[in-house]
Amino acid sequence: MQSGLLSGFNWNTYMIATSTLEISAKAYRQNIRYIRSEIGPKPTISAVVKGNAYGHGISQMVEIAEKAGIRHFSTFSSDEAWEVWDRSKKESEIMIMGMLHLEELEELIAKGISFYVFDFERLEKAIAISKEIGIPAKVHIEVETGFHRTGFDWDQREKLAEMLAKNYSFISIIGLCTHYAGAESVSNFVRVKNQIALYHEFKDFFNSQGIAFKTYHTACSAATLIFPETIMDMVRIGIAGYGFWPTKETFFAKLNSLPKGKKDPLKRLITWKSTVMSLKAVKTGEFVGYGNSYMALENIRLAIVPVGYGHGYSRLLSNQGMVLIKGQHCQVVGTVMMNAIAVNVSKIKDLKAGDEVVLIGKQGGKEITVSSFSESTQQVNYEMLTRLPKNIPRKIIL
Ligand SMILES: Cc1ncc(COP(=O)(O)O)c(C=O)c1O
Repeated sequence: MQSGLLSGFNWNTYMIATSTLEISAKAYRQNIRYIRSEIGPKPTISAVVKGNAYGHGISQMVEIAEKAGIRHFSTFSSDEAWEVWDRSKKESEIMIMGMLHLEELEELIAKGISFYVFDFERLEKAIAISKEIGIPAKVHIEVETGFHRTGFDWDQREKLAEMLAKNYSFISIIGLCTHYAGAESVSNFVRVKNQIALYHEFKDFFNSQGIAFKTYHTACSAATLIFPETIMDMVRIGIAGYGFWPTKETFFAKLNSLPKGKKDPLKRLITWKSTVMSLKAVKTGEFVGYGNSYMALENIRLAIVPVGYGHGYSRLLSNQGMVLIKGQHCQVVGTVMMNAIAVNVSKIKDLKAGDEVVLIGKQGGKEITVSSFSESTQQVNYEMLTRLPKNIPRKIIL
């Protein structure tokens, strides 16, 4: 209980954020339907939810994805895996593709969370714990095919095969995997083709040693859409699940195979909204905001919107960004501040504090897309989305 001046104060007020992200479950279902139509009925779709589910919120996306029938999630790190674990209502499979601390292995193995293994230290430790606790670690062996981030090298294959064969009964060798170095861009075509070939050499080598894996998986969104030969037992779908083409090139490459009318089958999940905080009149010749990057050339009216670079609205959108207010595009003027932007609302009538501002999404038949947003900041979709801070509330829209 508070006393004195603040007694009776509603502390929940602190929970009202300056902007909100709406996440469309319907759009997700559509994207999954499209991916399913591309890969056929058999392969598992693993929803990649690293980077706070590409900014959409892990807990919101686990709920949405499980309702859409997804039962497999890929994370980068163990902290993300635990978040999925906490949220999952369907005992979905969870796979860590990157960082975990060796001290956590026992807990991860005990809970059945699978993880990539790309060095002998992690493999040895996983085997030792599996033996000790009598629960087989679920491991995915990652092989280096040319991305050069993580993965066993070709010349490590014999030692690796020996260790796997020797410990076959202690660990569960779930997957053989790799990741492509930019399947979304035609300039990487030869490199990706070489990676596919090398992956198959690894696969054949292990098979020749009597080592079979339950799941062969290599494809991210772009590989799934552009290199169908990479669709094996499972595809790891990140960006396309959230409704974005990995690049324009991927979209153009698929355009001809799209259904009649060529409507984009991928739908954006995210809408970012805020409100007008206050209004201000600025006279001709006056400057707006920090420095002198914007001088009013006529009398203008500004709306101050409480979203700034501290909320993921890039500073590079200074004097460039657009928002929607009352169904009209309004330009950011002056520099993006830590917590706010000023937008020119001279043409809008009857505007008042509290009116809706759309930073990404639709309003009155007009739209601000993430790509228009990220093109002007030279950020790719991936980066812009994952920079949206965790503390912006995410609301699921059914
Ligand atoms: C290993 C791995 N698999 C799959 C993905 C998903 O990629 P995308 O978002 O392009 O589908 C990623 C993301 O970068 C990844 O690192």
